[in-house]
Parts: sequence; C-alpha cells; structure tokens
Amino acid sequence: KDFKNVLLEAEDGIATLTINRPKSLNALNSDTLTEIGEALDVVKNNEDAVKVLIITGSGEKAFVAGADISQMRDMNPIEASELSKLAHNSFGKIEDLKQFTIAAVNGYCLGGGLELASSCDIRVISSKAKFGQPEVTLGIIPGFGGTQRLTRLVGRGKAKEMIATGTMIDAKEAYRVGIAEEVAEPEELINKATEIAKTIMKNGLIGVGMAKYVIDRAADLPLDTAIDFETQMWSQTFATEDQTEGMTAFLEKRHANFTNK
Ligand code: HXC
Repeated sequence: KDFKNVLLEAEDGIATLTINRPKSLNALNSDTLTEIGEALDVVKNNEDAVKVLIITGSGEKAFVAGADISQMRDMNPIEASELSKLAHNSFGKIEDLKQFTIAAVNGYCLGGGLELASSCDIRVISSKAKFGQPEVTLGIIPGFGGTQRLTRLVGRGKAKEMIATGTMIDAKEAYRVGIAEEVAEPEELINKATEIAKTIMKNGLIGVGMAKYVIDRAADLPLDTAIDFETQMWSQTFATEDQTEGMTAFLEKRHANFTNK
C-alpha cells in the first residue's frame, strides 16, 4: 500500500515505519494517525517477514513534534475525543503486535510524539533529541496516553513535573529518568536500533513476543495474579520446538537454530 504520510519499508526481517511529514516536523494529523494504524496492520499480518519494527521520524530535526496543532485548533470536544480515540487505536496496535518495537528517536519528541514513543517497547534516542509534553502550554492536557504511559515509564513525580511545566528535557535527562534505554550519536542512531533488533532476532521469537505480552498485560495486575499469569505463559513455552532446540543447543554447546515454532 502507498502511504502519503508514513513510509513502511522492510529489510532482513526488520521493518521501519517512518513518520514522513518533515515540513511540519512530522506532526500527527488524523490522516497520519490512520496511516500509522494501517501500516501496523501490514506489520501484524506479515509476522513471517517482519520480526522487529523500528519507528522513526523523517528528517534530522524531529521524531514527531506532537499532534497537529493546525488541525486541532478549531476542534470541538467531540472531534477532539475522536482524534484521541484514533491515536489510542493506532498506538494500542503497537503494544498488541507480537513483534518487538523500537522507537528510534531522531529529534524533537513532543506531545503526541512522546506518546507514540512511549507506546513502543523500548526507546533508542539521539543525543540531540528533546522530549516534552507541552500540552498545557496550549491549554490542553496530553490526550494520546501521555498521562498514563509516561507516568508508567518515569513515575508520577517526573511525569507531573514534565506535564505541568511543559518544558523540554534533553537526551541525557531522558536517559536518566528512564524514558530512553539507549543513547546514540545522531548518525549512529539507526545502526544502534538495528543492532538491538538483530540481537533480539537471534532469539526464539515466540519467547520474545510472549515476554512482551506478559510484561504489558500483567503490568497493572496485583503481583500474585501477575506471577500466576507468568507461570501459565512460561509453562506454555514448553510446548514449543524453540524450547527443545534452545535447551538442546545449550547442552550440545552450539548456537540454537530457532524456527519460531
Ligand atoms: C503542527 C507543527 C507542529 C505541530 C511544528 N510544526 N510542530 N505544526 N503541529 N505540533 C510546524 C511549524 O508550525 C512550522 O510550520 C514547522 O513545523 C517548523 O516548525 P518551527 O516551529 O518553525 O521550528 P522551530 O522554530 O525549530 O521549533 C521547533 C519546535 C516547535 C520547538 C518543535 O515547532 C514547537 O514548539 N512545536 C510545537 C510542539 C508542541 O506543542 N507539540 C505538542 C502538540 S499537542 P511552518 O508552516 O511555519 O513552516 C499534542 C497533544 C497530543 O501533541 C494529544 C492531544 C489529543
């Protein structure tokens, strides 16, 4: 499918979804949010070809500078609610993918951009990237998950500080507070994300997908229920060929050849 606002490419098992409106710093309008959802459906339906997904922004300046303010200005509450639900639908698809997702944050990562990055499994960021939830500077609050996903990443205090001040933090601070797992020089960003993707792809991908699922689905459950859920999912990995191969390879002192079955 030909998209207008995003690019979807795949090579060697790694798909890259690029938000591609560089003139407006990749701001998310409703068409872009819709296309993100459609592109994620393509990724979901091509599990054999795509093992890991990298999400990034076009151009050197921005990952995504937020929801599109020019589209939002004249919205009424019903239209705003529809936009928020559209974003939740698309961002929820990232979490629902079996494939692991890496946000490669190449620049400004603001508002809806930080909410998009927060929906990915991990964030690899450029040392020049800047992060913020500036919604209150526009008279609104985060509406694409920012009050919730950012809070789960950094804790309530830091989330409240970022959301109430609306100011930006740099890459060092983003790494310090747990928004980012890795920091790379700008020209090394995609290499770094690709390297992580390749390391993940050497592993049994049923296990990778299941671990992601258990972590996300059980995150908000009471600990005893969550642990019980883990036991159930863990025991199911013993029904896979990957488990037999992984353990046999270890005992035979060789690399495992996972078939993801
Ligand atoms: C629409 C945007 C935009 C946005 C940038 N642009 N961000 N258009 N929506 N979020 C456009 C600018 O209008 C400008 O268009 C072009 O991109 C380049 O941006 P400049 O401002 O000229 O660049 P610069 O001076 O370098 O400043 C970069 C910036 C600034 C600091 C990132 O653009 C900025 O503050 N943007 C807004 C960030 C923001 O508030 N985001 C949160 C949005 S609310 P022209 O046509 O003039 O070249 C949000 C809420 C989500 O995300 C949930 C709601 C439901």
